[in-house]
Amino acid sequence: QLLEMELDTIEKGGYDHFMIKEIFEQPRSIADSMRGRLRAADMHLQLGGLNNYLEKLACAERIILVGCGTSWHAGLVAEYLFEELARINVEVEYASEFRYRNPVIRENDMVIAISQSGETADTLAAIELAKSKGATIFGVCNVVGSSIARATHAGAYTHAGPEIGVASTKAFTAQVTVLTLIAIAVARRKNTISEETYRQLLGALEAIPGKVEKVFEHASRIKEIAYIFTYARNFIYLGRGFNFPVALEGALKLKEISYIHAEGYPAAEMKHGPIALIDEDMPVVFLATRDSSYEKIVSNIQEVKARRGRVIAIVTEGDTLIPEMVDFVIEVPEVHEILTPLVSVIPLQLLSYYIAVMRGRNVDQPRNLAKSVTVE
Ligand code: G6P
Repeated sequence: QLLEMELDTIEKGGYDHFMIKEIFEQPRSIADSMRGRLRAADMHLQLGGLNNYLEKLACAERIILVGCGTSWHAGLVAEYLFEELARINVEVEYASEFRYRNPVIRENDMVIAISQSGETADTLAAIELAKSKGATIFGVCNVVGSSIARATHAGAYTHAGPEIGVASTKAFTAQVTVLTLIAIAVARRKNTISEETYRQLLGALEAIPGKVEKVFEHASRIKEIAYIFTYARNFIYLGRGFNFPVALEGALKLKEISYIHAEGYPAAEMKHGPIALIDEDMPVVFLATRDSSYEKIVSNIQEVKARRGRVIAIVTEGDTLIPEMVDFVIEVPEVHEILTPLVSVIPLQLLSYYIAVMRGRNVDQPRNLAKSVTVE
C-alpha cells in the first residue's frame, strides 16, 4: 500500500492532485500545442492536418463547431476568432442538440469537432450525421488515435498530453491555442488580416506560455480569496466578448469540482434576469481585462456594487480604476485581445481548485462525472 501511495505521488509530479498539476503544466502544454507549427521569427505558421483543407476552410460559407462541456466552450471562443479574423459565419453547437435536430448542412459547410478524449458519444454521432450530409469534418482532439480523430476527414491534435483530472484545464487552453492557429492561418489565406497583424499575432501567441507563467505569481492571493468564499452557496461569472466563454468555463469549473451552484452570463445579459439575484451573499466574478469592452464592464461592475454584490475582478496588470471599485482583484498580464481567454481562464481554474480542496472535495474525480462520456 505504501508503494501504491508513492506511485501516486510520483504520477502527480509532487502535486496533491492531477488537476493542479495540469493547471501548472499549461505554459508547457500550450507551447507543445504550437510546437513545430508556429515560428514567429520567420513568420512560419503551418499545421500538417490543414494542408489539404486550408483552401476549403477559406472558401467555407459557414463553419459549424461541435462539442460538449469544456470543448463546447473552446468552440465559443473559436466563434469570436473566426468571425473577427477570417470573417466567416460561425455556428457553435452542442453535439447532443445538433445530432437530433435535423440541422441544415450544406456541402460548403465545414464542421470542426472539438474533443479532448475523442470518445464523446454525442460528438461522434454529430460527426457521422454531418458526414452523411456531405460536410467536411475537421477534428481538434487531444487523444491520438481516438474514435473522433479517426472519424474525421482531417484534423490537428492539441498535444496537451494526458489529462487525468475530470475537470478539463490544460486541454481547454490547448484547444483554444490550436483553434487560434487555424483561424489565423485561414485569415492569412483569405487576406482578411494584414501582414502586420499576422506578424503581431504570431509573436503574441509565442509569448503566451510566459504570460500564463506570470498568472501563477498570484496563486497565493487566489488561494486567500478561495478561503474567503469557501462556503459561498452561489456564484455568478460575467464577461463580454472573448471573455464571455471564459465566464461560462469559470462557472463550469466551480460547479464540477466544488458543487457550488454557479452561472456564467454575458455581462450585459445580467439586467435581463440574474441581477435580481444580487445581494451581499452573491459573489460575482467579473472578467474585466482592458480590452474593447472595458468601459462597458466597468458600468456592469457599478451595477453590481450598487446592489451590494461582492465582486472579484480579473483585471489587466496595472489597472488602477477597477481595484478602487471592487472587493478583490486578480491581475493577469496584458495580451492581444483575441488571446485573452488563454490567460483569463487561469485564475478561474485556480479559484475553483482551491475552493474545492478547502471544501474537502475529490477534485480529480468529482461525484457523478466521468472524464469521457461514451454513452448518451
Ligand atoms: C465530460 C468531461 C468534461 C468534458 C466533456 C467533453 O463531461 O467531464 O471535462 O469537457 O466531457 O469531453 P471531450 O472529451 O469530448 O472534450
